[in-house]
Parts: sequence; structure tokens; C-alpha cells
Amino acid sequence: MLDTASNRPELPPEIARRRTFAIISHPDAGKTTLTEKFLLYGGAIQMAGQVRAKGEARRTRSDFMKMEQDRGISVSASAMSFDFGKYRFNLVDTPGHSDFSEDTYRTLTAVDAAVMVIDGAKGVESQTQKLFEVCRLRDLPILTFCNKMDRESRDTFDIIDEIQENLAIDVTPASWPIGMGRDFLGCYDLLNDRLELMDRADRNVVAETIEINGLNDPKLAEHVPALLLDTFLEEVEIARELLPKLDPKSVLEGHMTPIWFGSAINSFGVQELMQGIATYGPEPQPQQASPRAIAPEETKVAGFVFKVQANMDPKHRDRVAFMRLASGHFKRGMKLTHVRTKKPMAVSNPVLFLASDRELAEEAWAGDIIGIPNHGQLRIGDTLTEGEMIRATGIPSFAPELLQGVRAGDPMKAKHLEKALMQFAEEGAAKVFKPNIGSGFIVGVVGALQFEVLASRIEQEYGLPVRFEASQFTSARWVLGDKDEVEKLVEANKQHIAYDNDGDPVFLTRLQWDIDRVERDYPALKLSATKEMM
Ligand code: G4P
Repeated sequence: MLDTASNRPELPPEIARRRTFAIISHPDAGKTTLTEKFLLYGGAIQMAGQVRAKGEARRTRSDFMKMEQDRGISVSASAMSFDFGKYRFNLVDTPGHSDFSEDTYRTLTAVDAAVMVIDGAKGVESQTQKLFEVCRLRDLPILTFCNKMDRESRDTFDIIDEIQENLAIDVTPASWPIGMGRDFLGCYDLLNDRLELMDRADRNVVAETIEINGLNDPKLAEHVPALLLDTFLEEVEIARELLPKLDPKSVLEGHMTPIWFGSAINSFGVQELMQGIATYGPEPQPQQASPRAIAPEETKVAGFVFKVQANMDPKHRDRVAFMRLASGHFKRGMKLTHVRTKKPMAVSNPVLFLASDRELAEEAWAGDIIGIPNHGQLRIGDTLTEGEMIRATGIPSFAPELLQGVRAGDPMKAKHLEKALMQFAEEGAAKVFKPNIGSGFIVGVVGALQFEVLASRIEQEYGLPVRFEASQFTSARWVLGDKDEVEKLVEANKQHIAYDNDGDPVFLTRLQWDIDRVERDYPALKLSATKEMM
């Protein structure tokens, strides 16, 4: 039996040992460093020395990360699997750029929990807050890691208060820091009554652990200088009085977050956090779908695509669709049904992402993420099953908040541009609308940075310099409803209509007043800011 806070005892052991999660944080809080340490303890990186400097593997990995920064998107590290003790962790990367993007949202539809990393000196920052709110929409369980405790950081109570207040979630300390900045000694593991002492001499050395028999144990005084010990004991006493106790059920429901304090770069607190993910993080959860939800323990395989990455290797125009397995035991070569087109699809070369290497996935279980190379058949939101016409839901496409026209620098290359744009639309990197009247395309994104990312990708991957220019429209709404009514609207508002890459009509405008007018004049229609991907 796995020692967990299980809320799904019916799961087969292979599924029950899986933990699929993402890390959310503000840039610079330490997500990359923490990820590297996860991989180190997950055995995915063989030698500690590889993590910082030296080693070909390290260079390759950091090159990928540089490319990610340059391109503003995650390239290699979209999903990584590694073992931690009896557990299999699947870490799904949230895109690194600071604009909120749909990609980020959809990534969070593919995980069962999130680790929130905050910088001990800065507390809850803007990007953390936004990402947290996305997690909250799905009541995702959150485990918190307060990083950089080796530096001057804020008062422990302040940090906890700030999380409770800004994010409206109960916070319970899983560990308590002793000293701070230069005086930071380590943490007391409140869940296991252990003293963890940080080794400053070697960043890759795992902390020294001393078993303590409760807070009155005289052993504490042997390791903690009197001044620090007094403050620490006083703080823990107050914390135990004022802060809620760890309630695993409340964690699973997303109402409470346990917080660990540590220093990722010093490998400190990381293993305790990993143990926390194993113990308090949920097993694979049911997936909402239509006409019925999919339970992970179902023996038949079902999975859904939450991300498509094109041109991972510019030499081969391959695409990889990332599929989260929602149920069953997948085996390589399986024939699945592609629900949208109702066509069979043999999944013969699925990829499992083990750290920076891709490996053929011989098998996978509910909770795992596999990459399926394909030539464009698989789109975001697609469901693959063993025959049942069931469709995963809750993977939305958002109306873009920024619209711009786009032209190829060379007008002869308009066809090439169309191809590139369609590609990015299918990848979910942007919305592409073809206006009913006139030529050219209108591209819509959620964050301004995405225009730059697109322009540079079109240039790099297609050799096409492009120009974005102001559009007369500022809002886009999908037109939903009865076909005849839609036709009527299109006829009467030709100059406002465009079609998305699926051929679905979209109403473009710069005035909310227009949207209100249409809704008043066409009560049977809905102008929607989201469209379910299917
Ligand atoms: P991110 O992915 O969230 O953006 O953060 P990343 O891990 O890249 O960390 C941001 C910076 O914070 C890095 O410094 C990193 O070394 C540092 N850092 C991470 N964890 C800790 C910690 O526990 N303590 C301290 N003191 N620093 C930490 P950098 O100078 O930008 O990069 P580098 O030259 O160290 O690689």
C-alpha cells in the first residue's frame, strides 16, 4: 500500500502511484532550479555535478532552456516523468513567458495538482496570483514551496498571512524555518518531527536529518544555537495555536495548502516537498467529459490532447500532440479512435519524456502524459478512446483580447503565410481569423508578447518576415446558435464577420455596443468569448 492521503482507494496500484502536477510561479522565483532538483532526486539526472555547470547533458538542457526563453515558449520540457521512491511523478511544464496564455491554462487542465513556488523575499507576486486563480477554477490542490530561504527573506508569519489573504486559501506549515538569510540553519519538519540542517558547503548535498522526539527533545539544543532556538520554539508555539492543522482532505479539495520552506539551489527542502507531493498530492482524478465523466480506473484507454507542439525539430516538420491519459493502461501500437473524425488511429510511436530525453513509450497509465508525433491530425481538445464516442470537456479556447492584422513582408508569400498561420492556430499559439471581406488575416492573442513570439517563429520556422499592423477590431466573439439564424446575422453584418481556422464564424467589432445590439436583435444566438476545443 502506498502511504498516501488517498481519496480513490479503488485505483489499480500503477495508477495510484502516479502524481501529475505542474509548477506555478512568478519568473525568477526558482521554478527552473526546483525542476532540476526534482530531476536530480528523481534519478533523471545521474550525477549531482551535472546540475550546475559542466557536463554535456547540462549544456544541452540549458540550451533548450535558452531557446525557451528566446522563443518565449517551452520547447523540450513540456512533460517530464521520473520516479520518486514508489511514486511516478509526471511534471508538466507551464510555459515560461510572463504573459498569461491559453497554453498555460490548458496545461493546468492536464494536471491533478500544482506546486506553487514563491520567493521568500517577495511573497505572492502577480504571475503567481494569476496562475493560482486558474488553479482555483478547477479546485486544484496546491502545495507551496517558499524558496530562497538562504537569503534575507520576509518574516515567516508575514509570508503565510500574505498567501492566506491574497489567495484566500488556508495555509498550514509543513516545515518551519530556523533562522534566516545568513543565519538560516535549516527547517524543522513539523510533519515528521525531524530537524533538517542545510549544508552550505555543497549545494548538491542532501540535508542532514536528525530525528527529534518532539519540540521538548534536548537534542534540539545540541544542533540549534540558543538564540535561534528560543525564537523558533516561540514561533512554532504561536503557529500551532493560530494556524490550521494539516487536513489532507482540505488539501485535496484545494481549500488548504501546506507550505514547505527551503532553498532550491541548495537542494534544501526539496525532498520533503517531493514527499509531500507523494503523500498529499492526489492520484489521477476523473476527467470531465461528455456525455459522461471518465474515471482513471476504467480499463479502456481514453486520453485528451491539451497541447500541440509543432516544429520541435525545424528539419522535420513534425508535430507532437501531448495527450493526458484519462483512463486505462495504454500499450504502444494500440489502435484508438479519434473521436472528432471517428477515424481509427494507430499510436505506434508514442513518446514518453524522461527528463531531456525522449523515449518510446511502451506503455502508459492513466495520469501519464505521452507525446504522439503526427502530421496535423491531432488538435487541442481532441479525445482518443478505444471506440467509445466520448469527448473530454473543459479545454476551452479563449477569445483573444488583442487583435492585429498580419502581412507577409513579401506579398508573393501570402500562401506561405496562410500555411504558417494555420499551423499556429492548430497549435493553439494564436487565433487566426479570415475576414469575410477583403484579403489578409487577423491574428488574435491573449497577451501582447505573443505577437512577438509569433513573428519570430514565423521568421525562424518558415523563413518569412512578417508585419503586424493595427486592426480596426478589438474584440472577437464566436457566433453560436441555430444555423439559419447564424446565416442571417452573417448576411446582415458582412463587414464584421470572419472565420476561424475550423471555419466557424466569428463576430469582430471594436464596440461592446455592437455585441449588445446583436444579442438584442438575434435572441436565439450567443456571442461567446470562449469556444470548447473539439
Ligand atoms: P525561474 O525558473 O522561476 O525563473 O527561476 P530560476 O530557477 O531560473 O531562478 C532564478 C534565480 O534565482 C537564479 O539566479 C537562481 O540561481 C536563483 N535561485 C534559485 N533558487 C535559489 C535559492 O534557493 N537561493 C538563492 N539564493 N537563489 C536561488 P540567476 O542569478 O538568475 O541565475 P544563475 O546564474 O544562478 O543560474
